[in-house]
Amino acid sequence: MQAGMVTTAYIIAAVLFILALAGLSQQESAKRGIWYGIAGMGIALVATLLSPKVIGLSTGLSYIIIAMLIGAVIGIYLAKRVEMTEMPELVAMLHSFVGLAAVFVGINSYLDHPTLEPVMQNIHLVEVFLGVFIGAVTFTGSIVAFGKLRGIMSSKALNLPHRHKLNALALVVSAVMLTQFVNQGGNDTYLIIMTVIALIFGWHLVASIGGADMPVVVSMLNSYSGWAAAAAGFLLGNDLLIVTGALVGSSGAILSYIMCRAMNRSFISVIAGGFGNDPIASDEEEEGEIHSTTAEEVAGMLTSAKSVIITPGYGMAVAQAQYQVQDITASLRAQGVNVRFGIHPVAGRLPGHMNVLLAEAKVPYDIVLEMDEINDDFTDTDVVLVIGANDTVNPAAKKPGSPIAGMPILHVWEAKNVIVFKRGMASGYAGVQNPLFFMDNTRMLFGDAKDMTGEIAKHL
Ligand code: TAP
Repeated sequence: MQAGMVTTAYIIAAVLFILALAGLSQQESAKRGIWYGIAGMGIALVATLLSPKVIGLSTGLSYIIIAMLIGAVIGIYLAKRVEMTEMPELVAMLHSFVGLAAVFVGINSYLDHPTLEPVMQNIHLVEVFLGVFIGAVTFTGSIVAFGKLRGIMSSKALNLPHRHKLNALALVVSAVMLTQFVNQGGNDTYLIIMTVIALIFGWHLVASIGGADMPVVVSMLNSYSGWAAAAAGFLLGNDLLIVTGALVGSSGAILSYIMCRAMNRSFISVIAGGFGNDPIASDEEEEGEIHSTTAEEVAGMLTSAKSVIITPGYGMAVAQAQYQVQDITASLRAQGVNVRFGIHPVAGRLPGHMNVLLAEAKVPYDIVLEMDEINDDFTDTDVVLVIGANDTVNPAAKKPGSPIAGMPILHVWEAKNVIVFKRGMASGYAGVQNPLFFMDNTRMLFGDAKDMTGEIAKHL
């Protein structure tokens, strides 16, 4: 393929990526958006493989094809196996690959590049340094995010003493390394020291962020992985990689900003590893009396109610209880009960997680309301069913100094009766005990959400 044709193919692919992002912004056009993305990526891959730079490689080309085949097999296997609740972990893992690739591209470009004029040489060294730095931060940050989302690392924030000073020190030392690296026309030692610092910095940055802020962290790492890809694009002289990386980087940054606003968090504080969010009170164990109930009692309560709100959370996704929840909804609506859903912006583990599950079970869209639309209505509600939600209904967020202080929540406790569906007394993802469970108008319905909602549906 001639260079001109490759450029044309790249422009078409870039336009398709923009259309993909536009499509993904609406539920109705999301599928079309995915197809634009697949088509764009297909064109980009073929054009790159057939480009004069790659086609000229004798053995290199076969290595690329073998690597692509291995990658495709692993990718298809993982994508087929992954549960919806595991998607954020998969995304975090994929971000770590982008980060690692940027590190390798940077080091490779440093070790093996043609001699350049002094000015171009300096620009190249800065590109190498920044590419490796951003890539290394993304790599370890994403691994920690994966561990936290998978539950193999504590979701609580690691609050090292002087952690912000340590972060600042890492940045200052890296800046000094950059100056030395460029002044000396490249130096292995400075590059290696910075890489180690960036790896530790990325790990520490994400480890310092508490569970409730993880949605922002995942979208932020998404953004970092985009910038890492753009840096790799500069090093490889690949315009499409620069454009694609910039698209991912800026859309991830915009998503992080939107999430921060929804969670009442400062964008700067989250990207700086929870800067300024230090909890001043410990999340000591709540104590009090617990009132438990049975599915039969809840069914009775629901039939005599006029207004019911259901607030689902991660537990509903784990139990896959959405179909039983829809059965309950349909029975109650048939009996003239006003049933609505209150969806917290970060309920579950994915943006829009609850909406997707409820849509799958054919819950009508018009009774599924966002937190801000329903929060004032709890006072006029007879029964609230909290199905597998915890952090998103935790009144501890109102307590200054709590690790989730300031996070907007669903005001479920304002209803006459609150039924909490969960298996035991475990805390939510943020690791903060929930005073809601001990309130006088709360009844705990212990058991798997699918079994309990199924039983209630039977009684109804
Ligand atoms: P969580 O706070 O995660 O609580 C879920 C609750 O479900 C747990 O208390 C658990 O208690 C219960 N549960 C688990 N399996 C269950 C089952 N089979 N049957 C019944 N209950 C079950 O949920 P949430 O209120 O949806 O909050 C989401 C949290 O995740 C927030 O902190 C949010 O910041 C974070 N997060 C969100 C996202 C996005 S984008 N949505 C991404 C990453 C992190 P038991 O174990 O006692 O049953």
